[in-house]
Amino acid sequence: MDANRIETRLIDGKAYARRLTAEIRDGVARLSERTGIVPGLAVVLVGSNPASEVYVRSKITHTEGVGMRSMAHVLPGSTTEAELLALIARLNDDDTVHGILVQLPLPRGIDANTVTGAVHPAKDVDGLSPVNVGRTTLGLPGLVPCTPLGCLLLLRSELGTLKGLHAVVVGKSNLVGRPMAQLLLQEECTVTVCHVATPDVGALACQADILVVATGHKGLVRRDWIKPGATVIDVGITRVTTREGRSRLMGDVVHEEALGRAGRLTPVPGGVGPMTIACLLRNTLTAAERITAMQPAA
Ligand code: GUN
Repeated sequence: MDANRIETRLIDGKAYARRLTAEIRDGVARLSERTGIVPGLAVVLVGSNPASEVYVRSKITHTEGVGMRSMAHVLPGSTTEAELLALIARLNDDDTVHGILVQLPLPRGIDANTVTGAVHPAKDVDGLSPVNVGRTTLGLPGLVPCTPLGCLLLLRSELGTLKGLHAVVVGKSNLVGRPMAQLLLQEECTVTVCHVATPDVGALACQADILVVATGHKGLVRRDWIKPGATVIDVGITRVTTREGRSRLMGDVVHEEALGRAGRLTPVPGGVGPMTIACLLRNTLTAAERITAMQPAA
């Protein structure tokens, strides 16, 4: 029996996402009742990427599940950047579309920053356009990337105030690491960002009260990277085939080693993933409400 063993609380992302989704469903019904407007989300997928196809299908199902309209635009891998930009321009001008999401990664030859930067900031439910990145950085209201927003909502629900806590973010992607660091800074955490060029990430990670890991390297975080009692948010999701030939998902954290060490831990699957989708719905409703409020009364 290990006297230092901690009872780790697993953070049930599915349950949180279910509650948030129910609130969004009510919000969609209220908006439609009041204005006759049904929020519409356009999802754009370019080329064939099995993981992206699964994510896009799931986004469409959930969008329709809360009473929103979803428009899928599936384009061949041969699509040019100019063709994609032309589609985005049409969606920007389409009054039935309140949110636009271009699934990443994009095929080689298409610049992701150019494409995400072309989405109108008011419809940018991914929060990746320069205007929304700037607003997030300034702490102004805008649209915030779904995965870090989901992580933040989980952290707030679990811990209450985050003020004064030391947060270590591992990974500096535009989708997760960078916006996560900004959101935690906004909460008045002391934030350390580690990335591929950081020497001895473990020495920094083990000082964290909050450890957010988003690297896509399965099993990167071992027991000694975790400060006893820390809250660990595992954003990683890698599909692996077991020796028995079964397919399963693994996070960036060695789950079994984190159990008994972390105070709180998100499982993979069932942690951050469901919150990402719920936050996409939340951003789409927010975008629809703001766009509707800006329109002159008929
Ligand atoms: N690919 C993986 N995650 C995401 C996401 O949150 N948004 C987009 N657009 N693409 C992704």
